[in-house]
Amino acid sequence: MSSRFIVGNWKMYNTVSQAETLVRAILADYHPHPTVEVAIAPPFIALQTIATLLASNTIHLAAQTVYQEDEGAFTGEISPLMLKAVGCRYVIIGHSERRHVLGETDQDINMKIRAALRHQLHPILCLGERLEEREAGHTTRVVQSQLQQGLAGIPAKEFPQITLAYEPVWAIGTGKAATVDQAAEVHGEIRRYLQEQYGIEPHTQRILYGGSVSPDNAEALFHSSEINGALIGKACLNAESFGRIIALAKAYTP
Ligand code: PGA
Repeated sequence: MSSRFIVGNWKMYNTVSQAETLVRAILADYHPHPTVEVAIAPPFIALQTIATLLASNTIHLAAQTVYQEDEGAFTGEISPLMLKAVGCRYVIIGHSERRHVLGETDQDINMKIRAALRHQLHPILCLGERLEEREAGHTTRVVQSQLQQGLAGIPAKEFPQITLAYEPVWAIGTGKAATVDQAAEVHGEIRRYLQEQYGIEPHTQRILYGGSVSPDNAEALFHSSEINGALIGKACLNAESFGRIIALAKAYTP
């Protein structure tokens, strides 16, 4: 496993031509590093164009979601086969905006993870509690339930293909990141849970933190050995701030 993994989730931002401009700007200042892996997740419509631009580079392509069937009458959906064919290595699954704005359930998420794994697409499974759940002391319960349902029926031998991303909902897009202690505590709980339930060695599971990661707080996050990288929204839409976060990951890789 790379020591750090930095993923830029572009969400529903950038037309194809804007996407091209942003990727060119990111690549202009990008120098591969042996222990820092980088991926970007543009909107579906820009995947093909960006795949061409990334071809000779080591930034990986990711999708923001996937449908669980290979093909069929599912208007508007995109299959894992299509993502694989366009050059995606990763797919984000269960992002909080898909759970809470677009109504995805844990069962949907589980089917999507299975579908991705069937096609050797590596899922990035997002987990995280809402503010009211944290305030009620239910963070552990919520995250464990998302894990249990999201991973249901998936054998532990597949886990190395899966990256987890702890993204507290209250930290996403709010400018109010979790503290390093808050993130590290939940990451530790996830590792303990996976060890108890599946026998996974705690430090073999890659767990990213996401939620208002910026060049200002990334250094502190990367000091923690619990945090294997970051899933970044707003700060990845600007080549300079995304580049600064990548540089910090390189500087603070254990
Ligand atoms: P943010 O988004 O960095 O803008 O908070 C993170 C995410 O949604 O993955």
